[in-house]
Amino acid sequence: MERNIQNRISEIREIRKEQFEVLYQISKMLNSAVYKDSLIEETLDLAVNVIKAERGLFVKYDQENKSFSIIAARNINKESIADLSSFSSGILQQVISKKEACLYHDVQSDPNISQFESVQIHQIKSVIGVPIFYEDKIWGVILADSRQDRKEFTEENLLFLQFLSNLVSLALDKILHFEHLQDENLILRNQLQAVQPIPDMIGNSPAMGKLASLIHKVAQTDATVLILGESGTGKELAARAIHKLSPRNDQAYLAQFCGSIPDTLLESELFGYKKGAFTGAANDKKGLFEVADKGVFFLDEIADISLSLQAKLLRVIQNQEIIRLGDTKVKKIDVRLIAATNQDLKQLSKTGKFREDLFYRLNVFPITIPPLRLRKSDIALLAKHFLKKFSGRGMSINSAILKKLESYHWPGNVRQLENILQRALILCDSDKLAPEHIILEEDEKTLENFEGTLKEFERFLLLKRLENFNDNRTLTAQSLGVSVRWIQLKLKEMNQE
Ligand SMILES: Nc1ncnc2c1ncn2[C@@H]1O[C@H](COP(=O)(O)OP(=O)(O)OP(=O)(O)O)[C@@H](O)[C@H]1O
Ligand SMILES: [Mg+2]
Repeated sequence: MERNIQNRISEIREIRKEQFEVLYQISKMLNSAVYKDSLIEETLDLAVNVIKAERGLFVKYDQENKSFSIIAARNINKESIADLSSFSSGILQQVISKKEACLYHDVQSDPNISQFESVQIHQIKSVIGVPIFYEDKIWGVILADSRQDRKEFTEENLLFLQFLSNLVSLALDKILHFEHLQDENLILRNQLQAVQPIPDMIGNSPAMGKLASLIHKVAQTDATVLILGESGTGKELAARAIHKLSPRNDQAYLAQFCGSIPDTLLESELFGYKKGAFTGAANDKKGLFEVADKGVFFLDEIADISLSLQAKLLRVIQNQEIIRLGDTKVKKIDVRLIAATNQDLKQLSKTGKFREDLFYRLNVFPITIPPLRLRKSDIALLAKHFLKKFSGRGMSINSAILKKLESYHWPGNVRQLENILQRALILCDSDKLAPEHIILEEDEKTLENFEGTLKEFERFLLLKRLENFNDNRTLTAQSLGVSVRWIQLKLKEMNQE
């Protein structure tokens, strides 16, 4: 385009003053055009008016199929459009091959063109064809004709339309690029929506993105989901998220922790019992499966249930029915099951500790939550989230802290990060967190590394001991050689700060 303008500098001098004025109007109009359709319509109007043409046509050229389609017309009735486009195809071909505007004088004496009905009916004298470019290729052609009783098109008209063509091509370039960006924007926004977050789960690492799309997909179904992952990775959060995103979200969500619970107790919790089923069963009682009817039931730490309970669970999954303890009546239930474990169920089934048939029933849709060390890019976000949760305000994390957090291997995953940050806030005297407040397990082994104040060390030791003694203050006091009262005071002090 620029090249065309350069080559025609000398020709510019030939344009009359009033035409310059029209060009100025045109350039203003083109500069403000933002829609392709209005650009086409307005350009055609301008071309027809400026050269005082009888009729006008804007034809779109399809590079791939080498075909034309009319996208705008002026003063042409529907019947003549087909005829007109066929008579103009010769002119169109010329414009395409020459890549420049063409002028046909006296078409009546050209047998190739005069044979067309519309040429005769309308007594067409001359035809002009002007290419419009996009990225240096012909995008469309403006055709205009004039009748015999009117004046012929001139070389000056041709030159003028060539300028118009250059300007329109520039405007078109701008608009099409803009449209392209708009489409791209739409696609990107659509893709972003596809990776919607998991409710209550922080993290934008690629691993979490994959997890999110799996959770969103499976949530829509009724399939049994087996959530796998190391301790503290967020299995329980994921189970809740599946319920929240599922069509059952207005129905019950119940969870049962199956680890270290006596078998009979767990069984009566899950299945319920009939009055007199065992000593102490004074009334009929609904089991959790029944309560969760139409909703979602989450069996946490599924690997821990006994083999006999596994058999009963298999029946629930296979037949969607339960029998209360001490009862004979079978009850139909409609429950969506989610189970979780941090153990290798397949391995357990090989050694006979877990029923293989139950494993396959549960393993319909396994979802593995990646350990935190494999998604370290989530650490900064998670840390900010937890600091805000525990301090009640937004806190910045300096790069030294972040480096420390990111270079740790997090055997206890997100739960460990949460605990360590909670402890860091207690240890920190001021409102500025420092790396020495972040006590990782390695640091604990070598207490001489402790770089904080004496007060901070006192707190650290107290919390550590409490943790070791499972929050038992008497034992903690004994091991530290202080009174229980001292511990109570210190804890009160910490909570008040
Ligand atoms: N992506 C996350 N965003 C925010 N909090 C998280 C995330 N993942 C885990 N947590 C938090 O970490 C803690 C542990 O999560 P959760 O109990 O779901 O883990 P889990 O895999 O069930 O662990 P376990 O195997 O020990 O039962 C919870 O306090 C939870 O809120
Ligand atoms: Mg859990």
